[in-house]
Amino acid sequence: EAAEKSGYAHFMLKEIHEQTRSLQKTFAGKLAELEGNVRLTELKLTDEQIRNINRVEIIACGTSWNAGLFGKYLLETLAGMHTDVSAASEFRYRDPVMDENVLTIAITQSGETADTLAAIRNVVQYESSTIAITNVVGSTITREAENVVYTHAGPEIGVAATKTFTAQLIALYLLAIYMGRKRNYLLPDEAKDVIKALKELPGHVQQVLNQRDQIRKNAAQYADCRDYYFIGRGLNYPAALEAALKLKEISYIHAEGYAAGELKHGPLALLEKGTPVVAIVTKNRTYAKMLSNIKEVKARGAEVIAVADERDREIGKYADLVIFVPATNPLLSPVLSSVALQLLAYYTALEKGCEIDKPRNLAKSVTVE
Ligand code: G6P
Repeated sequence: EAAEKSGYAHFMLKEIHEQTRSLQKTFAGKLAELEGNVRLTELKLTDEQIRNINRVEIIACGTSWNAGLFGKYLLETLAGMHTDVSAASEFRYRDPVMDENVLTIAITQSGETADTLAAIRNVVQYESSTIAITNVVGSTITREAENVVYTHAGPEIGVAATKTFTAQLIALYLLAIYMGRKRNYLLPDEAKDVIKALKELPGHVQQVLNQRDQIRKNAAQYADCRDYYFIGRGLNYPAALEAALKLKEISYIHAEGYAAGELKHGPLALLEKGTPVVAIVTKNRTYAKMLSNIKEVKARGAEVIAVADERDREIGKYADLVIFVPATNPLLSPVLSSVALQLLAYYTALEKGCEIDKPRNLAKSVTVE
């Protein structure tokens, strides 16, 4: 087992580091930068089918559900497609309003999650198009869905998903660009900007990993706290949800992710002196609003750990601690924030002496209902 970890103390740490390569594998051979487009030759959808899609329904569980929420924001922004996201365990017992023009996307790392499989089987009756995004070649979902987009992140051993999560995000960028171009919603130049940033991601991820010693110190500072909050807006909101999930899974600290604008509708009441609040505040159109949220939080005595753009000269005035991530296209920065916060979760759990690769009560893949 030591050999399989290639010198890393845990599979999770190894897999976090592998993201410099795994992300590249997800988009390898698929970027057509000059044309401002992507190639997804694995999709069997005709142009007419794509034009006729009236809604996208994403179904997934756990970390894949967080990726799904991310997908909703991307498909809306890049492809102008109305998108809903459902927990598979809810979708299968609801009365979803579906027709043949709803595209269903099932996201499942393992391809074996019982609820996700049951949900996609329910969709068959609508005779609509389905796409599975999965990491495991030949997994059950690949036989249930009409189309498959593989994430190619390589096997993931740590129960807490890391490289498979960011690979799912990459697959969703590809899909959103593809749909946006096919539906004449996204301009080639807009697609080129995203594609350029995608190509730069591996190098940017390396820059985040290079800060592991600082993130380790930050983690140690708050490892004894009872509660942790993660806030973000826009695409940084699903990133906040995923960061909270990662921390609770492996460190057993109570953690919640919140849309920052919702703070005043409940969670503010829980903040005490010293409660850590991680604010994902990379530059995007919600930046000013995030600064107001940070001030609200500080006014209640909470401590703010900001995840911010390296070019941000202001943030140090508002936050107690700052984890800087490389500046990139605002649509892409949540990938970098996610990697930084995977490290925060990892080092918090390490500090607490938790069994990182096999957290209590959790399984890598839940194949029972
Ligand atoms: C389990 C794992 C999670 C994962 C979820 C969904 O709960 O511990 O890490 O996100 O299942 O798994 P899937 O394979 O469908 O993505």
